Amino acid sequence: MKFFVDTAEIEDIKELNDLGMVDGVTTNPSLILKSGRDIMEVTKEICDIVSGPVSAEVVAMEADAMIAEGRKLADIAENIAVKLPLTWDGLKACKVLSDDGMMVNVTLCFSANQALLAAKAGATFISPFIGRLDDINLDGMDLIQDIRTIYDNYGFETSILAASIRSANHVLDCARIGADVMTAPPEVIRKLVSHPLTDKGLDQFMKDWAKTGQNIL
Ligand code: G3P
Repeated sequence: MKFFVDTAEIEDIKELNDLGMVDGVTTNPSLILKSGRDIMEVTKEICDIVSGPVSAEVVAMEADAMIAEGRKLADIAENIAVKLPLTWDGLKACKVLSDDGMMVNVTLCFSANQALLAAKAGATFISPFIGRLDDINLDGMDLIQDIRTIYDNYGFETSILAASIRSANHVLDCARIGADVMTAPPEVIRKLVSHPLTDKGLDQFMKDWAKTGQNIL
């Protein structure tokens, strides 16, 4: 499973990228707001750091304007994936931009039928939002499973980019189901390393090592 990092914070992206944890980056208007940066500038900076796909989201609501915004965003760098909302206009823009050879990430997906439409419109990535479904007492992971089944049934090549990931269990379940990519905030990716038995075991090793009175260096 590929790891995308869901942020526009440059320092986080650099740290995780240096560790080999970043196969791509996703941003959205809320993350651009949080960064306090200009969208064109920060997106260019991210594309200079990361070689994989970097999603940059349009904000227009109508297809022609989405296409124009998408083309402008795609001009930032070769690894831009234009992010479009899962609306009828978004699907129209998806078809045009993907036919033009651009990577397209269709976002705000909350149903398997929406994912089916995005695949038929040529999306490179579909972004189902797990956490936001869990927030309203639905099971976000059921959606990932349904999309996996449907895409595999018909050989759709659209990659499932599991988004709105909030926990280590979300990451694990996505990997079990076979999501192609998951995108998570830096803090969720860092938390994957934590295990109480690792901490406990290391504590014991350090105590015993101190008793040996030895040094390695
Ligand atoms: O990639 C989409 C993601 O940013 C949404 O996450 O936690 O705001 O639902 P969240």
